[in-house]
Amino acid sequence: MGKGQELYKYAKTIIPGGTQLLSKRPEQFLPNLWPAYYSRAKGCDVWDLDNNHYIDFSYMGIGACSLGYACDAVDSAVKKVIDNGSMCTLNAAEEVFLAEKLLGLHPWAEMVRYAKAGGEGMALAVRIARAATGRDKVMICGYHGWHDWYLSANIAGSDSLSAHLLAGLDPAGVPKGLHGTVLPFHYNNIEEFDSVFDQNIDDLAAVVMEPVRNDMPVEGYLEHIRERTASSGVVLLFDEITAGFRLNCGGSHMALGIDPDLAVFAKSMSNGYPVSAIIGIEDIMKAAQDTFMSSTFWTERTGFAAAMATIDFFQKNDVENHLIAAGEHVVDVWKVAAKNHGLEIHTGGIAPLSHFSFAHDEPLVCKTFFTQEMLQRGYLATTAFYASFTHTADMIDRYGEAVDEVFGIMAKEPNLVSCLEGPVCQSGFQRLN
Ligand SMILES: Cc1ncc(COP(=O)(O)O)c(C=O)c1O
Repeated sequence: MGKGQELYKYAKTIIPGGTQLLSKRPEQFLPNLWPAYYSRAKGCDVWDLDNNHYIDFSYMGIGACSLGYACDAVDSAVKKVIDNGSMCTLNAAEEVFLAEKLLGLHPWAEMVRYAKAGGEGMALAVRIARAATGRDKVMICGYHGWHDWYLSANIAGSDSLSAHLLAGLDPAGVPKGLHGTVLPFHYNNIEEFDSVFDQNIDDLAAVVMEPVRNDMPVEGYLEHIRERTASSGVVLLFDEITAGFRLNCGGSHMALGIDPDLAVFAKSMSNGYPVSAIIGIEDIMKAAQDTFMSSTFWTERTGFAAAMATIDFFQKNDVENHLIAAGEHVVDVWKVAAKNHGLEIHTGGIAPLSHFSFAHDEPLVCKTFFTQEMLQRGYLATTAFYASFTHTADMIDRYGEAVDEVFGIMAKEPNLVSCLEGPVCQSGFQRLN
């Protein structure tokens, strides 16, 4: 057991769940063997606590670092504001400059508010939508954070979120009075959307969804939702926390040609520094004045400076086309290696956020084995790849050689589970002791 796993074992005794983010739990990757902690990260190179070196071909800071870790252009802007004071009784002018920049990128939007985390930004946006419409109910598709408003979808024993986030989420601690306020629907299913919409139209505040993520919208789908929400005075809120700043510099909705009423950004907008932005049309955003939403750290300066520098970097370096090309290249690597060895896999996701799954009786065993073998070859790897500006074509070719080798072993091995050096990875939410 390396230093990382030793520390993680201890962490679980003083931090419930071991870490603050489900997606960073080592059990999601390679139980007992994942390095768990890093000492240094630069570009897509990562060093663990034992100074072992890996190349990150997995989630790149769970989607937060599309320019690569410790990007000089962003970090120098952040260091500058730290040297000049990152917190003060007066406000940071950068929050106004960033608002101007975001509105310049999204001409349909007129006002901006900020928070720190993505889910927190979504909670603000939902509050604004409810305040603006005077209605309570919210239709949702996909994952939008951990807050009461969202998790209430699972009250009364339903597992409504299993298709949107993961199975087994118990809404313990969420007030039962929120039951029935959040109504899930599935992406690209117009009939289901219409049915839920029509049944709740009188008390519907917002439709909340990612404009795109795993699949491209079928023809007319987003246009239909836009038309129905607009004609019923329902707020259309796009969650761009993960899809934004991947296909273009700004919201993916611009690439799809649909303007929402509100949109929320976080993650890739600031390359790893905490800030989220809620942008929207004035008529709705001004309802933020009718309710109380206020927090000390929403005014903190480094997030604004990081987001400005990240957006500048996107604009100067054609980052989105690099992310798309890298993602397509990696999907090609998966497909070619699978074909070479007669393995059946399914691929999906928009190119910069690609993933695959093993068509096998024991997909989690396959996934665990893949991660185990790739780690031994110097890669942090799983069945998803979030592209960064620092993934080069040469690097992807070398990763491809390792994938080909591992798929080759998998195709020949009839008893993969016996080849695992630890337990099988977890897929959903589970209590950890
Ligand atoms: C689409 C989407 N919405 C909301 C969130 C929550 O963001 P955060 O983890 O910053 O609270 C995520 C995080 O993965 C996300 O992918």
